[in-house]
Amino acid sequence: MLIDSYDRVVDYLRVSVTERCNFRCQYCMPEKPFSWVPKENLLSFEELFEFMKVAIDEGVNKIRITGGEPLLREDLDKFIKMIYDYKPSIDLAMTTNAFLLKGTAQRLKDAGLKRINVSIDTLKPQVAQDIAGKDVLKNVLEGVEEALKVGLKVKVNMVPMKGMNADEIIDVLEYSKERGMSVRFIEYMENAYAKAGLTGVKAKEVLEILGKKYEFSDDGFDGASPSRYYTMKDGYRFGIIEPYGDDFCKQCNRIRLTAEGNLIPCLYFDEAMSIAESIKRGDIKGAAAVLKEVVRTKPEKNRWGGDDAEVSSRAFYETGG
Ligand code: 5AD
Ligand code: SF4
Repeated sequence: MLIDSYDRVVDYLRVSVTERCNFRCQYCMPEKPFSWVPKENLLSFEELFEFMKVAIDEGVNKIRITGGEPLLREDLDKFIKMIYDYKPSIDLAMTTNAFLLKGTAQRLKDAGLKRINVSIDTLKPQVAQDIAGKDVLKNVLEGVEEALKVGLKVKVNMVPMKGMNADEIIDVLEYSKERGMSVRFIEYMENAYAKAGLTGVKAKEVLEILGKKYEFSDDGFDGASPSRYYTMKDGYRFGIIEPYGDDFCKQCNRIRLTAEGNLIPCLYFDEAMSIAESIKRGDIKGAAAVLKEVVRTKPEKNRWGGDDAEVSSRAFYETGG
């Protein structure tokens, strides 16, 4: 079992398979980065998988494939099948913008993928274009329908922003609820790459907006999820993720691997250790030692909240948020 210095069990690995993305979301990657990671620096699926086996053997039981946009990487279904075949009981999920889901959802499901998280920030085509930098909504919604049809569990992420999509909080909730998908409202996290001047809607304001229309109970945190959950009278559950909140880091169980092989203990900080050399050398013991060291040095808290609040210098498209 992997346990950090604050007695948190680390059993969740997020693996970014590419930092490239076909969207330019204002809160993540409004401009094409000056340069992408050169292809030769990316770990192959076999190399990523070699490390994932180490992590699984050490106690990881939940894996999420992220990006950038993971579906931009060819043969992703084969990668998913490798993981699934190694340990079918792994909670195997993916975060995607859904643009390329139509036509791939069935293959992903057949390969062993269980769940996806999809960003739906708006249901208005023009607003979607303003947020993502191109006309994406039709493909996204069709992709979501297809994922549901093939039996993938789908969760929706929405980042509400003032003057942009804040007036659609109820609409996105209704859209999700009608389709049996849980929605989570994520507070905008400031970072050095996002478009300047964005203002997120705070958790408290989201609750006020929803409270005017619905009655719900506060269930608090559910296991290691960073989300606080609320249940409406008819049993529908939605979540709110408040990275600035005091409790956000208390139950954090995750580490992140980038497509280049950097293992990152905390989304907020730049610190990382590479597993690339050990994996390329076939040095499994070396890779396991790096994994343990990264877990040991996992910081207690991010620095979004508090008196010394800062803007994260980490690019979320490298780590899949
Ligand atoms: N603030 C909040 N959420 C973000 N995401 C990406 N960047 C940010 C940010 N700056 C979330 C999006 C997407 C997921 C990949 O990460 O909601 O669904
Ligand atoms: Fe791409 Fe996701 Fe970042 Fe949007 S949030 S630019 S879809 S990686």
